Parts: sequence; C-alpha cells; structure tokens
Amino acid sequence: MADYVVRCRVCGRTYGREYKFFRCLCGGVLEVLVDLGGVSWGVDEGALGIFRYSTLLPSLSRYVSLGEGRTPTIKKFIDGVEVYFKLEYLNPTGSFKDRGSALAVSKASELGVTEVLEDSSGNTGISIAAYAACAGIKARIYVPSDIPVGKYVLIKSLGAEVIKAGSRDDASRKVLMDLSEGNYYIGHTWNPYFIEGTKTIAFEVYEYLRSVDYIITPVASGTLLLGFWKGFNELLKLGLTTSTPKLVGVQACGYDSLSSSVGRVVRSECREGTVLADAIRLTNVPRLPYIAEAIVRSGGYLVVVNDDLIVDALKDLFRMGFTVEPTSAAAYAAFKLIKKELSGRVLIPLTGSGLKYVGGVESPLYKVFLGG
Ligand SMILES: Cc1ncc(COP(=O)(O)O)c(C=O)c1O
Repeated sequence: MADYVVRCRVCGRTYGREYKFFRCLCGGVLEVLVDLGGVSWGVDEGALGIFRYSTLLPSLSRYVSLGEGRTPTIKKFIDGVEVYFKLEYLNPTGSFKDRGSALAVSKASELGVTEVLEDSSGNTGISIAAYAACAGIKARIYVPSDIPVGKYVLIKSLGAEVIKAGSRDDASRKVLMDLSEGNYYIGHTWNPYFIEGTKTIAFEVYEYLRSVDYIITPVASGTLLLGFWKGFNELLKLGLTTSTPKLVGVQACGYDSLSSSVGRVVRSECREGTVLADAIRLTNVPRLPYIAEAIVRSGGYLVVVNDDLIVDALKDLFRMGFTVEPTSAAAYAAFKLIKKELSGRVLIPLTGSGLKYVGGVESPLYKVFLGG
C-alpha cells in the first residue's frame, strides 16, 4: 500500500493520516495524495474486493471489505456505437458506493471510530450501514423524508439509526449540526478516502479493457466521476495509459448544479424537477468546482435529462435485462441524446440496483412498468 498525505484543495495545507476532521481548517475540501513514486501496477489476486489494488491505495492498518468491485462489463453495439455497460449495481449492497464505503469505513476503523454519521439519498446510506455493520461500528444515516421505501428498509435492517430530515439538502445540513466529540462524519460528499475507493473502477476498466474513449455517468456529489478522473490520472502518471477518457456528466432537470460551470451543456426540455432520479437530487455539492474542472479537462461536457427520457431509457435497459434503478437510466438517456456524436468505446456504469425499488403501487418501477 502507498504512503499518502491529506491535502486541502483550497489552501494546500497538508495533514497526516491521523487527521479526523472532514474538511480543512480553512473550510476547504480535502483530497488524498498517494505517493506513486516507486509504485508499479499490480493486482493482488488473494485480496478481497477493491483491496486487490492495494498497491495504489493509501496504506491502512485495517481492511473492511464485503467483496465489492470486479463487476462485469457487457459489450453491445447500439446504433453503431460500441457500448460497455459496467454492472455496478451488482456490488454487495447494489451500487458503486460500496467501493467508496470499503475504503472510508476501513479508514474509520483504523481511526478507532465507534459511530459514523452519513447523509445520503439512500444508496450510500445503505452501503455505509453495511460496511459499518461489518466493522462493528454504529451508523447514523440522515436521509430525505421521501427516500424510496426499499432503501429505507434496507438501512434500518442493517442496524443503522435513520433520521428523516426533509430534503436531501436538509439532510446534509442536519448531519453537520449533530456532529460531536463522540462521532465521526464519514459523509461521502466530503470524505477524501471515499474517492480513493471509487477510483478503483478506473483500475478495473484498465485491467479488463485497457482504455475507453467516453464515460457517461450520473453526477450528484461527484464521487464516481471524480473516482474515474483520479484513477485514470494515476494510471497516466504510472505510464500505463497515454490519455484519459472524456467524462460526460449527467444530471437531471432541477438539479443541474454543474450547468453554469462546465463549458458545454446538452439539455433536454425541463418543465419540472426530476422525481424519478432520486439519487441525484442534490444541489449543495462541496466538490462542485473540481467536478466541473475534471469534466472540462477531460474534454467532456454535461447532459441534462428529463423524466420522460429517463422512463424511456429505463424501459430500454430492462429490455436488455439490466435491473437498474431510475438514476442509472439517466446515463443511458444521456447516451441516447448524444450518441450521434460519439465514436470509439463508450463506457456506461449502471450505478444502482432496481431491486431496491420493487414494492407497492407507489414504487417508481410499478408505475413505469405496471401502471398502465
Ligand atoms: C445509483 C446512483 N447513481 C449515481 C449517483 C451519483 O453519484 P455521486 O454522488 O458520486 O455523483 C448516486 C449517488 O447517490 C447513486 O446512488
């Protein structure tokens, strides 16, 4: 495992591995800088989950893993475009978030934390609750009051305390007010270790495909997009690749926080805010400038999709056999909008599982597929 420091993206101040606060003393967002000098590519086949890539991960004294990562990639030709669907919804708790949680909870465990606090639309809450349970750490998860019932039941079933806090943004505010000496804010929208976990998706793409030309991914707090960006840039530094893929960020109507900070925006008609893409309904995004910078520097852009397009895309994905949640379909909806201008290999991570949405007549899947 690699040596590292934690550095503030705003003032550049650095901290050692014992630093526990979720942001810099100046208020800035922190990042982990792994020392890649003397490190070479290698996969530890004996290790569990994302720790297969431990040579490129920050060194930790504990590993908490539920076997995340190594998700299948399915290749298809769609209207002449070579598309690779990466089935991130097959992770242990049904989303890519498990990559980030494995690293962040491992770090919390190393720090000797006894209770973690997280704010989430649902998937990260489920994931943190599961990894905390695995590590024997208590979890308290702040969620929007209209969280899909399946996600709520899963978080509760994993033994976490759940606080319903109004909107998704209210949950972000409330969790910070409840921080105290006895607990630790693991919140993925800030936590620098979380992205060390999500960057392993880039290592997997490299391991199995070597390179792709475009990645089309939903964006809320940016942990997946920034994970791709960090991972591919580290591969570049190691001389394993010669370029990074173009990152196409996807947001939904009413929650297009990136619109004014990325150069190009492809926009569908927005009459109202998304209801379906509940996992990307975030407006308070601590890493917003860095997400925008990654998109622009990669040569990518932003696509904003509406719920009609998400419904069509969800139907298409289920017709292909992919049991995903509506937020994952936002990325495929974006692909359909821009496919004429794409060339080469296009990777679409299918980020979350639709199985969490199966339930009564109020469930979005019931409405889309059985509602008549
Ligand atoms: C299924 C799914 N896809 C995409 C995202 C967006 O991820 P991020 O917040 O890392 O941008 C989320 C976030 O919760 C999610 O749950």
